Amino acid sequence: MKKILVIGQDGMLGSELYLRLYNNSLYDVYKTTIETLDICNKEAVIDEVKRINPDFIINCAAYTNVDGCEVNFDLANSVNGIAVANIAEATNIVDATLIHISTDYVFDGKLPIDKAYTEDMKENPISAYGKTKYLGEQNASKAKKYYILRTAWLYGLNGKNFVKTMLNLSKSKDEISVVNDQHGSPTSTTTLCEIIEQIIEKKPEFGIYHSTNEGFTVWSDFTKKIFELANISTKVIPISSKEYKEMYPNSSDRPKNSQLLKNKLHSVGIFPKKWEEALNEYLKEELK
Ligand SMILES: NC(=O)c1ccc[n+]([C@@H]2O[C@H](COP(=O)([O-])OP(=O)(O)OC[C@H]3O[C@@H](n4cnc5c(N)ncnc54)[C@H](OP(=O)(O)O)[C@@H]3O)[C@@H](O)[C@H]2O)c1
Repeated sequence: MKKILVIGQDGMLGSELYLRLYNNSLYDVYKTTIETLDICNKEAVIDEVKRINPDFIINCAAYTNVDGCEVNFDLANSVNGIAVANIAEATNIVDATLIHISTDYVFDGKLPIDKAYTEDMKENPISAYGKTKYLGEQNASKAKKYYILRTAWLYGLNGKNFVKTMLNLSKSKDEISVVNDQHGSPTSTTTLCEIIEQIIEKKPEFGIYHSTNEGFTVWSDFTKKIFELANISTKVIPISSKEYKEMYPNSSDRPKNSQLLKNKLHSVGIFPKKWEEALNEYLKEELK
């Protein structure tokens, strides 16, 4: 039976992932939360990992407030960047495999819109969040056995996210302005959990894998789809990133194109659902 440790179990991804793995009889699953383990405490991380002695360590802990990272850079860098080295070191001590979750925001988004990023393309983050997560990737790769799964635009039942924000705003607004020039892939935590399970089972070659739902969109069209599927009449007003920045000057810069190509994931037999299908399944649960 594979022993799996989920770090950051109290987060949006961590909570769903832990439950899924826990309910799978193939696995013996352990968890840590921010209360039981601060990943910035190297000694505590090594002690806990040695005590559990897992085969797989899945790091779902992070500082995920993208705008917050700009003002709280040191804290974000400690959690998203430096602390990942603690987890990688602990992973090596017990000869486990690390699965670390990263982001499309490691890219600068300057790629032409008709192209998508492959895993081997040069990272060049433009936001504080992206910079801290890129350091996290570099540290995760210090594990002898590692997978870095880059996901994007994540939403799920157990946390704050864009879909919930739009659903809530629609209750009090007749129209909502949403950015129309940032391209990416909305991804449900359920899809990412499915990818993680398949990575554990298939054990492909170690390295980076782009891990999002299939297909690309922009935030304004994503919002239109949310409202269409949820039967909401609120109007979506598409605006440019420049207009958004004028409205919210303290907001972080985000890549214009963070489309991630998933050929590498496909090559190991993992085929995520289309983003519209995953969104529909999520909304059925969310709106129950
Ligand atoms: N959300 C997205 O749109 C998105 C997009 C791309 C990639 N990702 C990546 O996907 C992963 C999962 O994201 P998520 O949305 O599930 O994040 P989340 O809901 O914010 O969960 C992260 C968890 O980590 C905890 N944490 C923070 N600092 C910690 C520390 N020092 N020690 C231990 N735990 C700590 C947080 O606790 P507190 O809440 O108490 O701080 C939270 O419970 C992250 O690696 C994230 O960077 C997310």
